[in-house]
Amino acid sequence: MTHQPDRRPIVYIETYGCQMNVRDSEMLGGIFRQAECDLTDTPDRADLILLNTCAVRERAEQRVIGRVNQLASLKKRREVRIGVVGCMAQHLRDSLLESVPDLDYVLGPDTYRTLPDLLSVERDERYADWSTDRGELYEGLPTWRDKHCPSAFVTVMRGCDMMCTFCVVPFTRGRERCRPALAIVAETERLMEEGVREVILLGQTVNAWREGEAGFGSLLRQVSDTGIPRIRFTSPHPLHFGPVELAAIAECENICESVHLPVQSGNTDVLERMNRGYTRAEYLEIVRALRETIPHVTLSTDIIVGFPGETEAQFEDTLSLMEACAFESGFLFKYSPRSGTRADREFEDDVPEEVKQRRLERVIELQTGFTRRFQEAMVGGEYEILVDGIGDRGPDQWTGKTRGNRTVVVESGEQLMGRLVTVVIEESGTWTLRGRLKG
Ligand code: SAH
Ligand code: F3S
Repeated sequence: MTHQPDRRPIVYIETYGCQMNVRDSEMLGGIFRQAECDLTDTPDRADLILLNTCAVRERAEQRVIGRVNQLASLKKRREVRIGVVGCMAQHLRDSLLESVPDLDYVLGPDTYRTLPDLLSVERDERYADWSTDRGELYEGLPTWRDKHCPSAFVTVMRGCDMMCTFCVVPFTRGRERCRPALAIVAETERLMEEGVREVILLGQTVNAWREGEAGFGSLLRQVSDTGIPRIRFTSPHPLHFGPVELAAIAECENICESVHLPVQSGNTDVLERMNRGYTRAEYLEIVRALRETIPHVTLSTDIIVGFPGETEAQFEDTLSLMEACAFESGFLFKYSPRSGTRADREFEDDVPEEVKQRRLERVIELQTGFTRRFQEAMVGGEYEILVDGIGDRGPDQWTGKTRGNRTVVVESGEQLMGRLVTVVIEESGTWTLRGRLKG
């Protein structure tokens, strides 16, 4: 036990990685609140510090180890325990305790119900728990979220069954499991009562969601029927996009016409070695269908350069696919070998670092051009934004997102937080747009 017995324990949670982790941290906060702990937003006063981590690339893991070592300096002054939870905990297990002496706890993503035990007397020793639970969907747990934010994450499925050869997620998050539609709809309705105006449905392959005969298109319509003003979802997998899903997005007014569709590579041989399940031509066909069925749809993607064996010609195929798709934005990565994955076991990481770096710079340059042109074309146009943040420059500056997921900054003396307002875009910067309120 680290805290004084005469006061409530104080817990600090720091989040790394994807939106799933952001949502999980809200749940961790809820679990600790229910266990009568206080949450804090700085590590300085905490009895327990938890880092909710990502294992997708090696850099992410190194950052967390650096952060643990930095936070460990607090131990010189007082009693404090530090834990790593989430994907990196599952990936590195007890070896993490061995390699980071100042770390006290290592806990995988299926163990969160046991977290308050960390504060009990019996749990005084260092320990790791990476047990998995195929049934764990964390139903019925409280949430601790920023009540002012009009946008909320709703998990619809956990885990992933796709087994892309480069990816550690199926090992860290376990097998795919879907929440019942009823629970997802009820959570959306509860959030609406709290003032939430947008839900973002989350899953590693969100459109693989199913319940009996019903697939993701059906779930989208059921959430749409709640009447919430905006719905987004991330990330769909190209293999699970059928006409039913496309029709739901096109027909339901409250589903934003913005799709993040990771492609990873533009070359069919590389895609096959990645075990992505589609060819270049099939991906292009999905993009064509999305653009044709959903007017004004905006598309974004994930790309990996320097996958084992990727030749210059195969890399050129990624560039030409980017040209063909004209993504509005992209998340671009160098391949990072992950222990335990098939790519790490079966293929040599044979693309030299400087070649990976050069390829990364080329995709960044190409994507930046598309993003800039896309944003410039928005100047002068009218867009609806949901105001979900305060700008850097004082209380009269607000930020919000268009239906196409672009951030717009507006100045206004009015209280805009949580409101859907129409703006006229006046100026386009590299990442954000500037607008003024219409009328
Ligand atoms: N399906 C998930 C993807 C998780 S990982 C989702 O919902 O977003 C996010 C992205 O990281 C992947 O799409 C991929 O582009 C990248 N990535 C995954 N493993 C990687 C690796 N070993 N090296 C480099 N990038 C990787
Ligand atoms: Fe990873 Fe592929 Fe699943 S990228 S999360 S194994 S769809």
